[in-house]
Amino acid sequence: MRIIKARDYEDVSRKAANIIFSVMTEKPDCVLGLATGSSPVGIYKELVRHYQEGDLDFSQVTTVNLDEYRGLDRENPQSYAYYMRENLFSHVNVRPEKTFLPDGREEDSRKACEEYDHILSQAGQQDIQLLGIGHDGHIGFNEPADHFPKGTHCVDLAESTIEANARFFESRDQVPTQAYTMGIQSIMSAKCILMVANGKGKAQILKQAFQGPVTPQVPASILQLHPQVILVADEEALSEMENC
Ligand code: F6R
Repeated sequence: MRIIKARDYEDVSRKAANIIFSVMTEKPDCVLGLATGSSPVGIYKELVRHYQEGDLDFSQVTTVNLDEYRGLDRENPQSYAYYMRENLFSHVNVRPEKTFLPDGREEDSRKACEEYDHILSQAGQQDIQLLGIGHDGHIGFNEPADHFPKGTHCVDLAESTIEANARFFESRDQVPTQAYTMGIQSIMSAKCILMVANGKGKAQILKQAFQGPVTPQVPASILQLHPQVILVADEEALSEMENC
C-alpha cells in the first residue's frame, strides 16, 4: 500500500486527480470505478479542468459507480446518478451510454443487483477504483457486517451513515434507508484502488482500516489484502496512523 500525504482537501483532490489522469492517458479506453460523496467532488473538478484544457479525453472511457440509493429516480437531485451528471458527466465528453450506476428505480432488489453485476462483468475489470471511506469503515455502501458480501446487494444503511448523509438532504427523514451497492469482491477486483480521505473525522477509521485487523466489522480493512492500494489523505486524516 502506498500512502500519499497531502496538505488539505485541494491538495488531496489534485494528487488523486493526477493518478486518474495518468491511468486515462495510458489507457484511453479504461474502466473507471467512481464514487460519490464529498471526498471526490474536488477530484471531479480537476478532471473537468484537464478536459477543458484539452488534456483529457473521456470518449472511450467506461465508468461504473459504486452505489445508488434504492427508490430514487435518476432525475432526483439527491440520486447519485444526478450527482455524477452534475459533478462530472455533463462537463466532459464521456458517452452517457458508457456510464453505469445501479438502477435506484428498480424496486425488485434482486433484479437490480443481478442487472448491475451483469453490467460490471460486461464492463470488465476497473483499471482504477476510486473510494471514500465512511466513519464506520464502509466502502461503497458495504456497511459493517459479519461477512464480506461478494456481489451487488441491497443494504440497510447504518444509522451513522444516514446521519452523515443527512447533510445532503433537507431533513433526516428524507434520507433513503436502503441502497444498492457494488460488493466487496467487485471492489477488490479492480486493478488499482485509490482511496481519498480528508479531515480529523476520518483519522480513527483510517487507522482501524489499515493498521487494525482485517474484519467485516470494518469493511475497508479488506483493502489490506489488495496488491495495489493508494491512499491519498491529508495530514489530519493521517494523524492517528503510525509511521505516517
Ligand atoms: C459514495 C460511497 C461512500 C462514501 C463514504 C464517504 O459513493 O460509496 O462509501 O465514499 O460515505 O463519504 P464522504 O466522502 O462524503 O465522506
